[in-house]
Amino acid sequence: MAMPFELPHQADGVTLDWQTGTMIGAAVQQSRKPLKDLAGIFRDEARRKQADPDTTVYQVQWWEPAATGSEGGLFWGVTTIFPGRVGEEYFMTHGHFHANRTRAEYYGTVQGEGMLVLMNANRQTWSERMVPGSLHYIDGRNAHRTVNTGDTPLIFWACWPTDAGYDYTTIREKGFGARVLSVNGKPALVPSHAENL
Ligand SMILES: [Fe+2]
Repeated sequence: MAMPFELPHQADGVTLDWQTGTMIGAAVQQSRKPLKDLAGIFRDEARRKQADPDTTVYQVQWWEPAATGSEGGLFWGVTTIFPGRVGEEYFMTHGHFHANRTRAEYYGTVQGEGMLVLMNANRQTWSERMVPGSLHYIDGRNAHRTVNTGDTPLIFWACWPTDAGYDYTTIREKGFGARVLSVNGKPALVPSHAENL
């Protein structure tokens, strides 16, 4: 009888669980990002310090079948952002520009609900709604961050070029032009200059 789900035959094979997004295989790497590694990223730094520093905000699995920095290759990964907030701000990723602004990326939502926050070089910031099945094309010139606005984990796949690289510094120093905050119990993209109104 045929197996309903056969593992890939290649040595470095990676299997995707289409229900949960999980990546399985010896070549899969993973890391997690606890609150203590996100200093200065959330608006309410005092609240972040009050929370358990080991709380996992998000975790990532990824596969690097080609060398980082090599031209023409692609990476694949899955990110899980857990539900939670720091004050009124939903749990989210650090966010980054690509070091190489000509390199684009795809995100595809597996589970949960959230927002993909995008910002161009002029700091104009907007968002796309993430729901199961939503596919997001990210122009290489735009910074990107994902936010879990739901009560369950937000899980999404990503595919990006091996030579995209990361520019985290701009986000660490200046943030995005807007934040996703809970306003009257609902997620809203609030321009940074309006946060204190
Ligand atoms: Fe990226």
